[in-house]
Amino acid sequence: MTAQEAKKEIEKLTEKINYHNDLYYQQNKSEITDFEFDQLLEKLIELEKQFPQLKGPNSPSQRVGGTITKEFATVYHKYPMLSLGNTYSQEELEDWDARVAKGLDGDAYEYFCELKFDGVSMSLTYEKGLLVRGVTRGDGVRGDDVTNNVRTIRSIPLKVKGNDAPGSFEVRGEVFLPKDVFLQLNKEREDIGEERYANARNTASGTVKMQDSTEVAKRKLDCYAYSLLGDDVADTHEESIQKLEAWGFKVSPTYRKCKNIQEVLKYINEWDTKRQELPLETDGVVIKVNSLEQQERLGFTAKSPRWAIAYKYKAQSISTRLNGVTYQVGRTGAVTPVAELEPVFLAGTTVKRASLHNANEIARLDLRVGDFVFVEKGGEIIPKVTGVDLEKRKDETHPIQYIANCPVCNTPLIRFEGEAAFYCPNITGCAPQIRGRIEHFIQRKAMDIDSLGEQTIKQLYELGLVKSPADLYSLTREDVLRLEGFKDKSAKNLLDGISTSKETPFESVLFAIGIRYVGKTVAEKLARYFKSIDKIAEASLEDLLKAPEVGEKIAQSVYQFFRNEESQLEISRLKSAGLQFESTAKEPEKLSDVLGNKSFVISGVFEHYERDQLQEIIVQNGGRVVSSVSGKLDYLLAGDNMGPSKREKAEKLGVKIISEKDFEKLLTGHTL
Ligand code: IVH
Repeated sequence: MTAQEAKKEIEKLTEKINYHNDLYYQQNKSEITDFEFDQLLEKLIELEKQFPQLKGPNSPSQRVGGTITKEFATVYHKYPMLSLGNTYSQEELEDWDARVAKGLDGDAYEYFCELKFDGVSMSLTYEKGLLVRGVTRGDGVRGDDVTNNVRTIRSIPLKVKGNDAPGSFEVRGEVFLPKDVFLQLNKEREDIGEERYANARNTASGTVKMQDSTEVAKRKLDCYAYSLLGDDVADTHEESIQKLEAWGFKVSPTYRKCKNIQEVLKYINEWDTKRQELPLETDGVVIKVNSLEQQERLGFTAKSPRWAIAYKYKAQSISTRLNGVTYQVGRTGAVTPVAELEPVFLAGTTVKRASLHNANEIARLDLRVGDFVFVEKGGEIIPKVTGVDLEKRKDETHPIQYIANCPVCNTPLIRFEGEAAFYCPNITGCAPQIRGRIEHFIQRKAMDIDSLGEQTIKQLYELGLVKSPADLYSLTREDVLRLEGFKDKSAKNLLDGISTSKETPFESVLFAIGIRYVGKTVAEKLARYFKSIDKIAEASLEDLLKAPEVGEKIAQSVYQFFRNEESQLEISRLKSAGLQFESTAKEPEKLSDVLGNKSFVISGVFEHYERDQLQEIIVQNGGRVVSSVSGKLDYLLAGDNMGPSKREKAEKLGVKIISEKDFEKLLTGHTL
């Protein structure tokens, strides 16, 4: 394909992908399957790889990430990002309405109500119809330039629709993590033994500031636009919202124009419980004067506009009896206490249980069985016990004694230094841990055995047929026919599913075996770096620490895992069963010989590349990567935060120390 043909094809694909993206993320419709969509995107990525000069900053391929931002540049906002005055009371809202009326000298006015979305506010600048910048609120005057991360948010258009958008304008919106995405993310964290994130808002805020945009893309952030700023863009806020919708921004359909404060109050009451059904957290209503000319007349106080106010819903709280505390044991052996409550109706659902997190939380609340406790549904989705109604406490209560033994297998619990949770150490004999490991093993992101479900695993375990993932591979037809509801055909399906899973690539197998703190991303990086399980098993702590994404905690966990006899046995049984324990990823294809067999040590953190990317580029261009600095070394490729000893040694031995920029020069054939 010539560059000219590629350009045409890239344009065609870009248009197609943008069209389907808009349809899917703005309008909740689809005309093609996810698979077809991914194929279009893959085709585009492939073409851009072949013709890198044709890849624009707003190519839809940016949606999948691929950039590293080491430090976010500080950017001044063109229009400061102010906060809103807020109130919890109807009376204060009516006072505010009176001030608006007075400020407008008795002229007629209307309001526009929106929900107050609980995420992080973002300023989006568009020029000539293209997204050029995404900046966080920061201190309101200046924020962080997180453009590369923002480009991965699929509901934020990279190019606006239609041709009536002004040459330059700014959109403000709230970036958030949808409730279901947040729940799933926490499930995944729990699964690998990481602590849960406290709430969706903080997680969204942490996500927009991640260095690796590929990770941001995986998080599935979303964004609702709520303001349009620019010269003469509209006469009313309503018109701004309509324009935003027409240009392809996602606007929550929950807004309403209100004639007066009574209608506003009606809106507030209506959404008080209905908002629980929305896909994201909301914590109030934002009321704006609709006319932009009137907004201007009302102006601002030092901190906030006079033309808008936030009515905040009180976190919904109710008091109910604590009937007892039960304990759950997870796959990693972590024990979670759960409050068993007298069922009570709160914000649309009946609450019977609430997580108490850990022993410290029980002590902090000084909980007693029989207490009346306050239960809240705040920004955390899962109900939470926030305190005790001491006035209702009976005399004869005793503080809750945290259990000392596993509630399932009775093994004495242990606590690791620096961790709040208690653990059951009976890894191979405690039912929920065993079942949990098998559930983890078969999940989609791991071995993807969808013919097996939680119920089947439970039965297989109870019949003594499966005690570890490796046992799955010696199941026979007769074994499976013993399970309730299994006939010839379903038994065959199950066994076929298990058998096919032997083809699962190494990185998924590495995730499936369930090493603590090794999530899918880390497993992928380890597999790519070490190439085989044997290499990982042999690796010293120091070797492990050299791999991308691996810090002290993960290195220790991997190191210990491979020194545990039971894990060794399990791995060797899985090997005999025929699972993939070596990376079959193709060796990177050779692009050039420009690096002429020169040797490199890579050290530190880089602005545009991850270390494993650099390694690949060096090999693809005829160079070699070695691990230690010696007199024979040609280049020490030095990033930030490089260990001082490496630098000193290189200096002493007269090895050339080069920067990322120097390296790029070498790649284009320059000599240094
Ligand atoms: S309008 C002058 N509309 O609330 C500020 N803000 O305290 C005008 N927010 O930082 C903001 N939902 O992040 C507006 N529908 C909405 C909103 C909203 C959430 C956030 C926004 C802002 C904060 C103001």
